Amino acid sequence: MQTLVVELGDRSYPIYIGPGLLGRADLLRPHIPGRQVLVVSNETVAPLYLEQAEAMLAGLQHGAVILPDGERYKTLEVLNRVFDALLERRFGRNCTLIALGGGVIGDMAGFAAACYQRGVHFIQLPTTLLAQVDSSVGGKTGVNHPLGKNMIGAFYQPRCVLADTDTLNTLPDRELSAGLAEVIKYGLIRDLPFLEWLEAHLEDLLERQPAALVYAIEQSCRNKAEIVVADERESGLRALLNLGHTFGHAIETGMGYGLWLHGEAVAAGIRLAADLSARLGWLQPDELERVVGLLHRARLPVHSPAELDDEEFLKLMAVDKKVQDGRLRLVLLQPLGHGVITEQVEPVLLRATLDACRQPGGAIP
Ligand code: NAD
Ligand code: GLY
Repeated sequence: MQTLVVELGDRSYPIYIGPGLLGRADLLRPHIPGRQVLVVSNETVAPLYLEQAEAMLAGLQHGAVILPDGERYKTLEVLNRVFDALLERRFGRNCTLIALGGGVIGDMAGFAAACYQRGVHFIQLPTTLLAQVDSSVGGKTGVNHPLGKNMIGAFYQPRCVLADTDTLNTLPDRELSAGLAEVIKYGLIRDLPFLEWLEAHLEDLLERQPAALVYAIEQSCRNKAEIVVADERESGLRALLNLGHTFGHAIETGMGYGLWLHGEAVAAGIRLAADLSARLGWLQPDELERVVGLLHRARLPVHSPAELDDEEFLKLMAVDKKVQDGRLRLVLLQPLGHGVITEQVEPVLLRATLDACRQPGGAIP
């Protein structure tokens, strides 16, 4: 098992990474201060892992709320079911919410924990690669709005993250690839040696070799934790974690939540960001090829959907949390292995990228 710590003073917390952790009550229980625990999961993950998770809670007053599965259910309306379950059980301020699932469940349970009685304890048990390398760490929580992805939410840190890599064995291939988009992101924005390791070991990850997975999750969480510690509430540096996300969120919102997986939309978005970086002369042609080649090997889309024309795309991109005073800010690469946040993109160049990277006649990745 690997242990990392997100150093946030009295809100510091450990990230445990490794196989067999869902049975480790000894790791989990010290992070549950009270006696009341609600596990939040969904109808896909609960049949697989709820029993194991609840076995760690023996002796406590615990229950579970099972939400429908899917990005399209990441809404305020569905979130209300968590509040219903908490109130029906008369759970108080010292209760703990445990997210058991992927990023959708983690974001929703975390937001519920931030809001219920103005804040209760929260623990992450992430079960997708994407959640283990990204969404369970750093305290971004929330739900979608029909007009914009993740637009309603709060920063709210968990008390611990327990990433059992055995859970990845049941993850569909498409979801594994989606998680790899966020893994590749860390290499691109700040960790060239990790990017080179990914280029050398991508097939090991696709084959789910345990040691390779643990290494990739550990390096991803280390990178994320360092950024979160430096800029918890995204006043600057943390925006780098949004490489590809302004384009990606536009794709997710524009196509309808759930049609493209989040990681797929991010992958296409990373390709667009790399293309734009190359047009600015910040990325060399061979570096752009490396980015596209790695995403392609990870079985991720490298084109935006044909359905989104420039006007629609730009309109959707304007609904982005990085927009400041109406000005679009993008994360680009300058050079490979180093992300930059910039407002200095000529509209003509942005349109050239949108035109060049659109899937000719294609729809779903
Ligand atoms: P997800 O939560 O929808 O999970 C993907 C699918 O895999 C779902 O159908 C789920 O039920 C299923 N699943 C989960 N674990 C499984 C397992 N072990 N075996 C079999 N099936 C399993 O999607 P995701 O990719 O995990 O997360 C995407 C979400 O995370 C998006 O809403 C995105 O906005 C959010 N996100 C948040 C952050 C953050 O910092 N908070 C960062 C990145 C992404
Ligand atoms: N996934 C982006 C962030 O946590 O900031």
